Amino acid sequence: MENTELEQMVDTTDQWIRERTGIERRHIAAESQTTCDLAEAASRHAIDMAGISADQIDLVIVATTTADCVFPSVACLLQNRLGITNASPAFDVQAVCAGFVYALGVADSFVKAGNAKTVLVVGAETFSRILNWEDRNTCVLFGDGAGAVVLTASDEPGIHSTHLHADGRYEELLHVPEGVSRGYAEMQQQAYVQMRGSEVFRMAVSKLSEVADETLQANGIDKSELDWLVPHQANLRIIKGTARKLAMTMENVVVTVQDHGNTSAASIPLALDVAVRDGRIKAGEKLLLEGFGGGFTWGSALITF
Ligand code: ACO
Repeated sequence: MENTELEQMVDTTDQWIRERTGIERRHIAAESQTTCDLAEAASRHAIDMAGISADQIDLVIVATTTADCVFPSVACLLQNRLGITNASPAFDVQAVCAGFVYALGVADSFVKAGNAKTVLVVGAETFSRILNWEDRNTCVLFGDGAGAVVLTASDEPGIHSTHLHADGRYEELLHVPEGVSRGYAEMQQQAYVQMRGSEVFRMAVSKLSEVADETLQANGIDKSELDWLVPHQANLRIIKGTARKLAMTMENVVVTVQDHGNTSAASIPLALDVAVRDGRIKAGEKLLLEGFGGGFTWGSALITF
């Protein structure tokens, strides 16, 4: 969906969207497609690239806020779709736009504790289903998508550290205020994203820069040693602000927001996938991943790819 299509739907312009967000287009799932459909496609690509067979996977974690149904989890649906019948655990992680770094952190802990060897970590969303398509403040920002990675236990350095945070005091700045337990009646009217954008913006810039510093300090490395920043893709201005604080030029920052919009938990693995497949990110390079989302939740991962 191009920005020009949105001009027909709400009082906005292509120019406003590009200048304020960097977004040019986003992808919207077909009516018949669910989050699990997107997760399955991404997972099959990741499994192919990793050169493993699906039954080697002994943990499936899906980061999502837009599950197919109340239960089972998308991870369980996905495990079945992929034909994994080894009874290994599968569950979803819900941390909105920080979901993928949260899922990565959980996966890393399982591996380091010796409880998993081959983990499928997916970020998948159909945010289009929880948008008010009459609210120009939000509907222009988000898109649907999925990305996936396979982690395998190894003696080589991979995930150096993850840093996860939350501060529940800010619910009202960014939320979908209704849901199952608050009642289905209201849910029909308010089950869409509501955001106080400029306040979220300020918080995102400050927390993302704090967590970047925390990550570098924890690993005793200097920002000049980072090869790539692979940030959550919410807004090009936030991404540029974070890059500036890390003294990184935009050549070393993976930016896909122009093509995907904000795909919440899917945005980091989608960006990673683009830069790995087009040959920019190479084995052995150091990557800083970071995300910020509703909750508020935020986090980072330092990785040698
Ligand atoms: N088209 C035209 N005008 C618009 C649109 C639009 N689509 N949306 C808002 N406006 C107007 C507003 O109504 C406002 O008008 P007013 O001054 O007459 O009241 C004006 O533009 C400026 O609005 P601001 O909100 O101040 O604009 P800002 O520069 O902050 O940009 C944006 C808005 C893009 C939402 C930005 O604040 C942002 O990116 N925020 C952070 C989003 C984010 O990072 N989310 C994180 C995770 S999302 C998750 O977890 C689900």
